[in-house]
Amino acid sequence: MDERIITNHELEEDKFENSLRPDSLDEYIGQSEVKENFKIYIKAAKMRDESLDHVLLYGPPGLGKTTLSYIIANELGSNIKTASGPSIEKTGDLAAILSTLEEGDVLFIDEIHRMPRYIEEILYPAMEDFKLDIIVGSDSTSRNIRIDLPPFTLIGATTRVGDLTSPLRDRFGIISKLQFYNNEELTEIVKRTSRVLNCKIDDQAALELARRSRGTPRIANRLFKRVRDFALVMNDGLIDLEITKLALDKLKVDAYGLDDTDHNLLRAIIEKFNGGPVGIEAIAASIGEEQTTIEDVYEPYLLQTGFLKRTPRGRIVTSKAYEHLGIKQEK
Ligand SMILES: Nc1ncnc2c1ncn2[C@@H]1O[C@H](COP(=O)(O)OP(=O)(O)OP(=O)(O)O)[C@@H](O)[C@H]1O
Ligand SMILES: [Mg+2]
Repeated sequence: MDERIITNHELEEDKFENSLRPDSLDEYIGQSEVKENFKIYIKAAKMRDESLDHVLLYGPPGLGKTTLSYIIANELGSNIKTASGPSIEKTGDLAAILSTLEEGDVLFIDEIHRMPRYIEEILYPAMEDFKLDIIVGSDSTSRNIRIDLPPFTLIGATTRVGDLTSPLRDRFGIISKLQFYNNEELTEIVKRTSRVLNCKIDDQAALELARRSRGTPRIANRLFKRVRDFALVMNDGLIDLEITKLALDKLKVDAYGLDDTDHNLLRAIIEKFNGGPVGIEAIAASIGEEQTTIEDVYEPYLLQTGFLKRTPRGRIVTSKAYEHLGIKQEK
């Protein structure tokens, strides 16, 4: 994801997010297949009294990778240590983290695709044989030493599994993809959020919020927070369908959960590229967004909901998109 600039606002946002994280598999809504599998893997690892195999979680932002990683550690009864790919700059950084691990610990590496290649190489023996190879001494006197590590579980999270090198990917015993949530699941998430925040929402409003959340719990929670503000100021705090619609319209989130950037993107392909096919670079340039932001944040949902299609020659806009935007499709 984009480099985050830490501001008070951002920290506030993180606090909000953390307060809403479920901490057991039973409380984790949706992703039923992934969840059922983890229940088995965790149970088996415990029965064998071994560390859980290394886990790679991937999928678009906000679907619950970080949340699930903490839950896995929790369910294992393990401590979790965390790092993020771009923050590990030197081999020494990773060696330092690895050498603090205790038996059964979970090491969570977020954005693992952004870890430099020369650092990955330290990780291979650590993942495979629980060994850490380090170089001690300076140039002329330097030598390799090999240190035993306690068995641990690496959990890597990424929005771009395709950017992982295959030697790294191959060292994960468990690879799970998180999917967009359906409206029912998101409604449940919205209701859970309403309980945690102690702020009532009626059923119709919860469903409307769910529908407009792009299949993504993080977005559902953020929209909830904004709708809550509108309800407080304009509706005596009551979150009903009417105030929800009003708030979401004001936030420019449409009935499918698309926002201005999605609209600009689809419109650009239609108006400047005749509906496509067009390459991602050209789309990025024409709407002034980073290519990676489009690929990671916007495109997955547009593809999933059938507004956009990927072909070998580039992206094309579908008739559903023309219809949704109210643009007549030229034959
Ligand atoms: N299955 C779920 N049930 C309930 N809440 C969830 C679930 N998944 C995610 N959430 C909520 O959504 C928020 C975002 O989830 P999380 O931070 O785990 O996403 P992520 O996949 O790690 O995103 P990123 O790729 O940006 O790191 C969390 O605060 C959590 O409260
Ligand atoms: Mg995360």
